[in-house]
Amino acid sequence: MRKEELNSIVASVRAYLDLERESGVEEYYFASDEAVAAACADRPAAVPQGLDELKKEVLACRECDLCQTRTNVVFGAGNPKAKLMFVGEAPGEQEDKQGLPFVGRAGQLLTKIIEAMGLKREDVYIANILKCRPPNNRAPLPAEIIACRNNVKRQVEMINPRVICTLGKFASQTFLNTETPISALRGIFREYNGIKVMPTFHPAYLLRNPDDKKIVWGDMKKVMKELE
Ligand code: URA
Repeated sequence: MRKEELNSIVASVRAYLDLERESGVEEYYFASDEAVAAACADRPAAVPQGLDELKKEVLACRECDLCQTRTNVVFGAGNPKAKLMFVGEAPGEQEDKQGLPFVGRAGQLLTKIIEAMGLKREDVYIANILKCRPPNNRAPLPAEIIACRNNVKRQVEMINPRVICTLGKFASQTFLNTETPISALRGIFREYNGIKVMPTFHPAYLLRNPDDKKIVWGDMKKVMKELE
């Protein structure tokens, strides 16, 4: 076994055990080789090209007022052939600075969750409903969601994942076209255009409510089972 492989396994085990300890969950779960291979399996060659073109378009977007206050457009990142896609709400301060999704504190927790699932960030695709940061991290306005939601929907169409995990109220309600609260939506597979959607709590919520990490972990176990 190569040293990088060993390091990656150790990082994955460490993240997993941290999450287990913090959430008080006693049951152990690891993705099989087949599940990891399924999460990274090859998809049609046309997909990345389409995404690159969409990215160019979105980086120049001026459809709402957020274009005036953004530092960077945060298009999304990860494996364009991913079987698992995470969709959050909107970039925060760090994401706006770096132009990358989920790189602040909530992002670090999301990374831990992904690694605890036996995957790496590069295996999945991560995006947001809004591509630009709302000032002071305020909640997205309905008009901003309407102006931006087709971008993430086009990303989903091009990536064509097996499962979309929607993080928090805004992503879940946008994909499921409902106003049902996230507490009622989460934990049950729903559907968007024939793709399974697992709504769960947002990592930023988990930073404020760490006791609910075990609930999210339960939701992620359902996702891993679906990808097997
Ligand atoms: N919260 C989100 O919803 N998305 C990010 O990219 C970062 C924090």
